Amino acid sequence: MLYQLSYVRLGRRLYRRRRNNPGDDIGDRESDAMAQNDLHETAKALVAEGKGILAADESTGTIKKRFDSIGLESTEDTRRAYRELLFTTPRVEEYISGVILYDETIRQSASDGTPFPRLLASKGIIPGIKVDLGAKPLALSEGETLPSDYCIWSNAHALARYAALCEEARIVPIVEPEVLMDGTHTIEQSYHVTSRVLKALYTELYDQRVDVEGTLLKPNMVLSGYDAAERAGAEEVAEWTLKCFYKHVPAAVPGIVFLSGGQSDEDATANLNAMNAKGPHPWQLSFSYGRALQAPALKAWGGKPENVEAAQHAYYHRAKMNSAARSGLYAPELEREAVTA
Ligand code: 13P
Repeated sequence: MLYQLSYVRLGRRLYRRRRNNPGDDIGDRESDAMAQNDLHETAKALVAEGKGILAADESTGTIKKRFDSIGLESTEDTRRAYRELLFTTPRVEEYISGVILYDETIRQSASDGTPFPRLLASKGIIPGIKVDLGAKPLALSEGETLPSDYCIWSNAHALARYAALCEEARIVPIVEPEVLMDGTHTIEQSYHVTSRVLKALYTELYDQRVDVEGTLLKPNMVLSGYDAAERAGAEEVAEWTLKCFYKHVPAAVPGIVFLSGGQSDEDATANLNAMNAKGPHPWQLSFSYGRALQAPALKAWGGKPENVEAAQHAYYHRAKMNSAARSGLYAPELEREAVTA
């Protein structure tokens, strides 16, 4: 099993309020309390009922791989056109609360000149930004494929540092410890590794004074390895994942927004649905999917302007299916109904 962490931050920028009177400690405390409240409110808005997050923060290298799969050259303008297609999808704000952008994308604009962050905000969608430059090899740990304590704790420490810096800047951190699911391991092994990671992560977050009510957790689901001989179905995935999170994630965390991590789009929806069907839970269980929200749209688009509408329909449909999964009301029949509608 490989282990990887990436750092993503999301949330509207929250500016420190100026004190009326320098040296006035009460003014300071009040503005700190207001800022803390804003962080909590933003985190809650990102996991509002029936809504989830679109991760559109693929780095230039990753989006090139996605475009290769449809035979499209990755240029600044094809990347911009693709993101415009997603962000201008009619009515998608019914199901999407936030979008995580990549550094290049946050500086780009729609064809009518509207900067992407403003376009999203005008639809009531909260724009966010990925801040990492990709996974890097861990020093003195060459060839590590099963995470050692050293690997887990150094990554947990770094994630908590990142979260503390975000909160200090009044930005909601999305804390993303990802255990990759490539390999032949069992779901039990995935459970044990994910547990060790979450235990370290919350120890570090508390040690570093992070207010977890102003954060969201973006983890992997607990799955069998993709090449395992026997792969667990949605019910088992839900049981193991919930067991793990009930043990290790404080109820003060407002939401857990899963990454899809290479699952098929329908599996990612069915697994989220199975967990929510067992609710209510102490935290909102939602999605922050990249591939599982975008794959059908990318395929339908194929880089051709005449396919933009079909691609937007495909993205809207996946967002709607995942919205249903937020309340345990998804069923595979809904996929077919939508296709024939
Ligand atoms: P996937 O859902 O494709 O794993 O991507 C999520 C993500 O974190 C992108 O930054």
